[in-house]
Amino acid sequence: MASLFEPVKMGDLQLSNRVFMAPLTRNRALADGTPGELAEKYYRQRAGAGLIITEATQISPQGKGYLNTPGIHDDAHVNAWQQVTRAVHEAGGHVFLQLWHVGRISHTSLQPDNAAPLAPSAIKANSQTFTEQGMVDVSTPRAMTADEIRQTVADYRQAAEYARQAGFDGVEVHAANGYLIDQFIQDRTNQREDEYGGELENRIRFLTEVVEAVIDVWGPRCVGVRLSPTGTFNDMGDSDPLSTFGAVINGLNNYDLAYLHMVENFPGIESTSDDRVIMQELIDRWSGFYIANGGYDGDSGQAAIDSRHADAVAYGRPFIANPDLPLRLQQQAELNVPDETTFYGGDAHGYTDYPFLQS
Ligand code: PHB
Repeated sequence: MASLFEPVKMGDLQLSNRVFMAPLTRNRALADGTPGELAEKYYRQRAGAGLIITEATQISPQGKGYLNTPGIHDDAHVNAWQQVTRAVHEAGGHVFLQLWHVGRISHTSLQPDNAAPLAPSAIKANSQTFTEQGMVDVSTPRAMTADEIRQTVADYRQAAEYARQAGFDGVEVHAANGYLIDQFIQDRTNQREDEYGGELENRIRFLTEVVEAVIDVWGPRCVGVRLSPTGTFNDMGDSDPLSTFGAVINGLNNYDLAYLHMVENFPGIESTSDDRVIMQELIDRWSGFYIANGGYDGDSGQAAIDSRHADAVAYGRPFIANPDLPLRLQQQAELNVPDETTFYGGDAHGYTDYPFLQS
């Protein structure tokens, strides 16, 4: 039987274990989206993960929705991310960059020229974001034109190219948690009447175009996709998540992708028994490498591998507080407790100063 702590092959990559690091927003980048100088240390400390998936990283200035999140849309970003990938590789790890566009989950103060955020439809989310003024309600978005959709797909392609230049092992397309791609997929946020809205086939078109653009750059085996079919975070909900995401997954099965990664549970939001049934049916439909995420510990992570529920498990909050999480889980050692007050923004405290086991 496979162990969480043994090597695994994913696409063409040989990874050292199945304990992956989930994407985690930490808000320590510079105002222009350049990763902060501590990012290199932070990720190097966590290179014992079988795979690191970076924090969500905007593909364009319009893709930004929170203060001090990193970008991958200019040379300064590429140079800073190069330091990160070099450090992770030197420490024997592997790292994918998560490509992000927030869509409507933004505020005019974070957008170029203080413009309205872009979204499939002009429907404001009942949600908040983090700005210079602290937590504020998100702004009412503007519906994207067909040209803006084409430009955004081109922005994903360009960001994927920058990610290659920066030395990543691959990229994850963030299609979860109520951000732009998810807003196109789910009917609650997509009321377009053109070829990008209405019927299911149309609502999936944007995801398909983004995935194909990114595959053009990377090849399918270095591209993963993250979904949250039953998530309600960021005011989401589809009228028929099983049909909607069943079609999404059937579509993704056509490519030889590195993996599918799903948010089975979101911190602080209780999943219902219906959600769990839907999630299991969707997982069963996926034919490739599957990364489970959401509230796992060492025992439940190993059980997910044993039962073939998942090929790997992505840990979020435990990785914030435990840079050597795989080792600690393997030794059943005590875990450091994450300090929520230092999750979003700040300095080294709560970022690069959590102790390792031996120190
Ligand atoms: C967040 O910044 O709160 C955040 C970012 C990306 C996610 C979820 C939450 O997928």
